Amino acid sequence: MDLSGLHIAVGERVFLALHVPENLLHVHAWYNDPDIQQLSAGGAAVVSLEASRCRLERWMNPPSDQRHWAIHRLTDGRLLGFLHLVAIDFDEATCKVGIVIGEKDCWGYGYGGEAVRLACEYAFRELDVFRVSAEVLADNLRSHRMLSREGFILEGLQRAAATREGTRVDVSLFGRLKTDNRTDSEKAESMN
Ligand SMILES: CC(C)(COP(=O)(O)OP(=O)(O)OC[C@H]1O[C@@H](n2cnc3c(N)ncnc32)[C@H](O)[C@@H]1OP(=O)(O)O)[C@@H](O)C(=O)NCCC(=O)NCCS
Repeated sequence: MDLSGLHIAVGERVFLALHVPENLLHVHAWYNDPDIQQLSAGGAAVVSLEASRCRLERWMNPPSDQRHWAIHRLTDGRLLGFLHLVAIDFDEATCKVGIVIGEKDCWGYGYGGEAVRLACEYAFRELDVFRVSAEVLADNLRSHRMLSREGFILEGLQRAAATREGTRVDVSLFGRLKTDNRTDSEKAESMN
């Protein structure tokens, strides 16, 4: 599929693009994946195809305080996951980022980190926000590591702030400011 007109941001490994209806079955599969559910608030619950279709439609027609994008691998265009900027508050200049690399064989290759970096650059430059925050389950160590590498600071622990499979769990709060120092990844890139 030609996605060239839908590109939002392009990095070295991934590009962010607007969602298209063809993403439905991928999004549906990721929301029903037990491993991904285990790493997300809410936990195990069967999501119907209709619910996934409604979700994707909302992502393709988001309200003004949200941006929803698909993450594609740069080399072959493979759809890897999705990312969103939500709760965009133009008065306070803040927003939240959320990400899922749904294709599990692609975890740990730097795709998630670069997607978050591209989204932060977009948020700071295009939305003129000052702060991007991320909330992740406290035991999601891969996500902690990826956010820390991308310049997010662990700011606190929100006790029992979410549920997973009916159990209350802690949520880590991360933040990155426009004025923060460059990330390890950005420093490495500038040395190449
Ligand atoms: C969290 C997620 C987005 C990260 O994407 P990714 O492409 O795997 O991330 P990256 O490859 O950029 O970075 C992963 C980091 O975790 C590290 N890591 C891998 N497995 C790990 C583990 N079991 N425990 C701790 N860290 C781990 C990697 O070494 C890497 O860090 P490093 O580059 O400093 O060595 C992806 O794994 C995912 O979608 N998971 C399921 C959904 C989810 O957890 N979403 C989180 C919401 S923010």
